[in-house]
Amino acid sequence: MRSYKSTMATPIRLLPREKRERRLEEAGYNVFNLAAEDVFVDLLTDSGTGTMSDAQWAAMVRGDEAYAGSRSFEQLREAVSEVMGFERVVPTHQGRGAENVLYGVLIGEGDVVPNNTHFDTTRAHIAENGGDPVDCPIESADDPDAEGAFKGNLDVESVRTIAEDVGAERIPAVVLTLTNNSMAGQPVSMANVEETRELADELDAAFVIDACRFAENARFVQQREDAHADRPVAEIAREQLSYADALVMSGKKDGLSNAGGFVAVRDPDLFERAKQRAILYEGFPTYGGMAGRDMAAMAVGLREAVTGEYLETRIRQVERLGERLREEGVPIYTPGGGHAVYVHAGRALPEIPLKAFPGQTFVCELYREGGVRGVELGSFAFPGTDRPELVRLALPRRTYHDEHLEHVVESAKAVMDRHVTDGLEIVAEPDNEALRHFSAELRPR
Ligand code: F0G
Repeated sequence: MRSYKSTMATPIRLLPREKRERRLEEAGYNVFNLAAEDVFVDLLTDSGTGTMSDAQWAAMVRGDEAYAGSRSFEQLREAVSEVMGFERVVPTHQGRGAENVLYGVLIGEGDVVPNNTHFDTTRAHIAENGGDPVDCPIESADDPDAEGAFKGNLDVESVRTIAEDVGAERIPAVVLTLTNNSMAGQPVSMANVEETRELADELDAAFVIDACRFAENARFVQQREDAHADRPVAEIAREQLSYADALVMSGKKDGLSNAGGFVAVRDPDLFERAKQRAILYEGFPTYGGMAGRDMAAMAVGLREAVTGEYLETRIRQVERLGERLREEGVPIYTPGGGHAVYVHAGRALPEIPLKAFPGQTFVCELYREGGVRGVELGSFAFPGTDRPELVRLALPRRTYHDEHLEHVVESAKAVMDRHVTDGLEIVAEPDNEALRHFSAELRPR
C-alpha cells in the first residue's frame, strides 16, 4: 500500500500510434531526442524526476538565497550530519559536480581507482584526472540469472590482486557505489562495506562511497542481511556510510530533490582542498551551484528518504514491476534492482544480432507500442564492452501509479508478441563514442 497520496496532478497523454511512429523517426530512433510531452510513461531515469512532498515544497518557499552563509545550507549540513553522519559538506550542482570536486583533489596521473562498477560520469571524471577506473564487480553480477542477495558487491580479492600488480601506492581511493547502478541497480551488503573498509586501510587508500541511492541500499540490507533485519533503515543507512572517508552524492536520487548534490568528507585538509576546487567549478561553498531553495528541499528529502514507510513503498513498487514483467514472459535481470527493472533485451528479441542493437530496438519498440521511454544500457551505450544487452526501466520516486506500470507491462508484452526481427543501424554519431547513446542517430536496417 502506498504511504502517501497525491495532491498535485500533472497531465500526461498517449499520442496515437501513427504520431508515435513519426516522432520516433524524427528523433533518429534515439529516445533522448523525444520531447517529454510526447512520452506517456517516462522511465528514462530516476534522477531528478521524482515527486517532492508537501514538506519539501514548504521548505522551498523559505529557501534562503544568500550567496554566503545561507540558512538553507545550514539546514542541508544538519541533515547530512544527522542522516549520513558527515559534518563537512561541500554542495555541488549535482552528482557529477561532486565527482569533479572530489576526484579532482584525490586522483592524479597514473592512479588506479577500483569501484564495484563505475557509473559513466564517475568513470569519465576519474579518467579526466589521469586515473584508470577499474570495475571490480563480483563474478555472478554479469549473470542475469544468478541468484544472489547482494550482486552489487565489490570483489575485494580482485582489488587486492590489482594492488599487487600495480602497487598499492598507485591506488589513492577505493569506491563503492550504493546501489550499483551500472550493475542492474543491485545492492551492496553491510559485510561488503566492512570488508572494503579493511581493504582501504590495508592499501592506505581513501574509502569513497557514491551514496546516490544509499537509502534504497539500506532497505535491501534490512530485508536480506539477517543481522540487520530488526534495525530501522535510517540506522542501517548511517552505519553503512560510517565506514567511509568521503561521499559523493547526487541529491536527485535519494535526496528526493530535482537538483543538487554534494561531497562530504571527514578529513579537514581534504575538506579545504575540496572547497577550493568547488569555488572554481561550482560556487561559493555555502551554495555550490544550488539555489538556497533546492538545498532546503534536499535537507527535508534526505530525512524522508530513510523512513521505513517511504522505502517500503518505493522498493515494493520496483519489485512489483519486475514480478509483473516476468509473469508476462518478459525476460529481466534477476533479482530486480532498487531503482529500476532491467529487461534482458538480447533474450526478448533473440532474432536481432548484437550488431543491430537489440537493446536500442527494444527501447524504440516500447515507445512505439505504448509511448513508454526506457534507456538502453548495452552495446549501444557501452560500445566495445562485453555486457549483457540490458534496457533499464527506472522508476521516478513517488510519481507513477500501479496502472501506469501495468501499461508498461502490457507495452513490453506487445513488443515481445510482435517478434520484431529488424534491428537498427547508426547513421550519425559524435566523436566521443563513450557518450554516443545521448546523441547518435539511427535508422531501421
Ligand atoms: N553516480 C551514480 C551511481 C549515478 O547513478 C549518477 C547519475 C551519478 C553518479 C551522477 O549524478 O546525474 O546528479 O550528475 N545517474 C543518473 C541515471 C543520471 O540516470 O542513472 P548526477
